[in-house]
Amino acid sequence: MRTPVIAGNWKLFKTIGESVALVNELKQLVANIHDVEIVVAPVFTALSRVSDAVEGSNVRLAAQDCYWEEEGAFTGEVAPKLLKDAGCSHVIIGHSERRQFFGETDLTVNKKARAAIAAGLTAIVCVGEMLTDRESGQTFSVIETQIQGSLAGLAADDFTHVIIAYEPVWAIGTGKTASDAQAQEVHLFIRQLIARLFNQEVADAVRILYGGSVKPENVKGLMSQPDIDGALVGGASLKADSFAAIAAFNV
Ligand code: PGA
Repeated sequence: MRTPVIAGNWKLFKTIGESVALVNELKQLVANIHDVEIVVAPVFTALSRVSDAVEGSNVRLAAQDCYWEEEGAFTGEVAPKLLKDAGCSHVIIGHSERRQFFGETDLTVNKKARAAIAAGLTAIVCVGEMLTDRESGQTFSVIETQIQGSLAGLAADDFTHVIIAYEPVWAIGTGKTASDAQAQEVHLFIRQLIARLFNQEVADAVRILYGGSVKPENVKGLMSQPDIDGALVGGASLKADSFAAIAAFNV
């Protein structure tokens, strides 16, 4: 009932030429995968060229961040409507690297998510606990605070344009994946929280992705969990064959 999403976050990697080459290779490899929403998120400067390259294919385009204003004196920022203009259908918001290194808070994540949805983009809203949170038994309270703050003020209807990504910070880029059970436990918690904050229909429909060292070797186990609806992939999305193998988790 929930279409799985496999999204690749290319972070600060690849030139325009390298991005186009990667996506050209990828689109051939995933051409026959029709029951999965496949998304790639290159750097801003490559978006428009990658958009041209994926036209007519089943690969969708995401940006890695956006601003909440439509235009104005905001040097260095990019508005959601400009991302649409560049060919994006999705935007990643509140990735833990933005929260850790660029001062992103639940409040700014919320403003960005609302602006992205208003512009017709699908917001991939990221949450996740730090290792210290997990070790001190705070995982659920941290996730609850992040979800409540990041999705504040959204209407049930907005959720057609929301994807949630659960990414435990200790699993990102570390090679340490959460176990299937550890991930499922938090995904279920998030779904129940969405039911409580919004309604059951929204909770049943919203896609919740897992992120953190997802690879072809561990994707099947994660995807077999009832509340894991996809993956947000960093390192393994930088090579066409490994990302295509993740997107083919169910073949
Ligand atoms: P990783 O990154 O797959 O390299 O752990 C995931 C992410 O940051 O989205």
